[in-house]
Amino acid sequence: MKIGIPNETSNIENRVAITPSVVKKIINLGYEVSIESGAGLKASFLDQDYEKSGAQVLSSKKNIWKLDIILKINKPSEDEISALSGKSTLISFFSPDLNPELLKICKKDNINILSMDSVPRISRAQKMDALSSMANVAGSRAVIEAAHLFGRFFGGQITAAGKILPAKILIIGAGVAGLSAIGTATSLGAIVRAFDTRPEVKEQVESLGAEFLTVSLNEDASSNDGYAKTMSDEFIKKEMDLFKSQCKEVDIIITTALIPGKDAPKLITDEMINLMKPGSVIMDLAALQGGNCTLCKRDEIVDINGVKIVGFTDLPSRLPSQSSELYANNVYHVLNDITPDKDGKISINMEDEVIRSLTIIKDGQITFPPPKVHVSVKKTQLKNTQVKKEIIKKEKKSLLPGIIAFSLLFLVGAFAPASFMSHFTVFVLSCFIGYMVIWNVTSSLHTPLMSVTNAVSSIIIIGALVQISSPGLASIVLSSLAIFITSINIFGGFAVTKRMLGMFKK
Ligand code: NAI
Repeated sequence: MKIGIPNETSNIENRVAITPSVVKKIINLGYEVSIESGAGLKASFLDQDYEKSGAQVLSSKKNIWKLDIILKINKPSEDEISALSGKSTLISFFSPDLNPELLKICKKDNINILSMDSVPRISRAQKMDALSSMANVAGSRAVIEAAHLFGRFFGGQITAAGKILPAKILIIGAGVAGLSAIGTATSLGAIVRAFDTRPEVKEQVESLGAEFLTVSLNEDASSNDGYAKTMSDEFIKKEMDLFKSQCKEVDIIITTALIPGKDAPKLITDEMINLMKPGSVIMDLAALQGGNCTLCKRDEIVDINGVKIVGFTDLPSRLPSQSSELYANNVYHVLNDITPDKDGKISINMEDEVIRSLTIIKDGQITFPPPKVHVSVKKTQLKNTQVKKEIIKKEKKSLLPGIIAFSLLFLVGAFAPASFMSHFTVFVLSCFIGYMVIWNVTSSLHTPLMSVTNAVSSIIIIGALVQISSPGLASIVLSSLAIFITSINIFGGFAVTKRMLGMFKK
């Protein structure tokens, strides 16, 4: 089958659906790839790069839209939909719940539409989750945009010319975009606070160096589809009181609060904006769904008494090469899943819950909304109980080898000489302690642990140091050699450990 990548038509769009590096991977799935001339230019991918990767560059948009599969980023326009015909398949963002009219127009011929924003948030589908990839870029870029508009730098300093206070940033909603924003803001030296209705994100927020704010009301927004659920009015009031007091203190607010398929909750009111210092910045990432801030205007910067409210909806597009690369990889994984035989032919398996969720039009018929995919807490709890039961069973079983080992030890003790038994006991105990120590260390730290134990265990060097002063050339040569080799082991072990531990430090 032939795949076409058209130019994105929105004038604030700099991304391209497929990058040259991903073209190669798609060709390996058995497809032929064609791209509209100049489609990757704004993301710094030239036509020649695509040609080198094996794609054909076409100058006519019409010819691209005639191909079997169309890959793009933004939802199709009505004109683009009319260009789809026969059994062609379109893969792009679509937001079917926000565009019901557009969905109805797509009901024609035998076309298929796979919506990249309908990937369920389950671990198996993470590689296709374009919403998360883009939110990650957007969160980080939001901090950079805020830094650009804010009149000071973020980190605190004490200089000869005076003290510079660090910027204070409040991040509302610690999902993908929020966490990414926290990471970027803390790395620039700001004091970061974050709030989310899901208390489970507290640890993640704190691990990124931010303070997690709470309200005095015990309500959890966690749901079983990986997204948050709507909170009670009482909770929203409490959190807004919290934001009101924060508005007097913080310099920058980044709002990312979202309940999928719903308008963004209004959390920052006109009154709160008036409490902020002139020069402050509010980055409203939820501008796409109406904004978390009452005064937010889509794709505009509104200035209220020196407080700038930014409603950009093209944040991923402001880092076009990286966003395109991530999006292209997400699309590749979808293609990979719908090309089971890697023969360049798609097969949309509606039994597969991920593909089912993505498919909003199948053979010209609307298949949206899909059945809910649950990341069920109850199921997980059930699973955990089952696992616990299995562990108890295993523990019971594991008693048997222990009893056998103990009986064997008893037998050895009854017949072996006493000197053997003392060495043997030390050996068994050290095996046991070594095993227990390593078992309790998290697996990511096994390599540094092994390298340090490797270094420490070079006890040979002590024997060599004792022997080097013995008479005889042979013992001097052998001891020197032993000292040389074990030194490499010791210094090498510590060097590797230092390097590995360095990877865990920020
Ligand atoms: P997400 O679902 O991962 O995170 C949203 C977070 O908001 C969740 O952790 C949720 O618990 C929290 N939340 C919901 N209601 C809340 C409330 N009342 N108070 C505090 N927290 C609340 O979503 P993701 O992927 O991080 O996206 C966040 C927002 O960023 C979305 O609105 C999305 O459309 C937007 N976005 C904007 C872009 C732009 O260019 N402006 C680009 C990409 C995403």
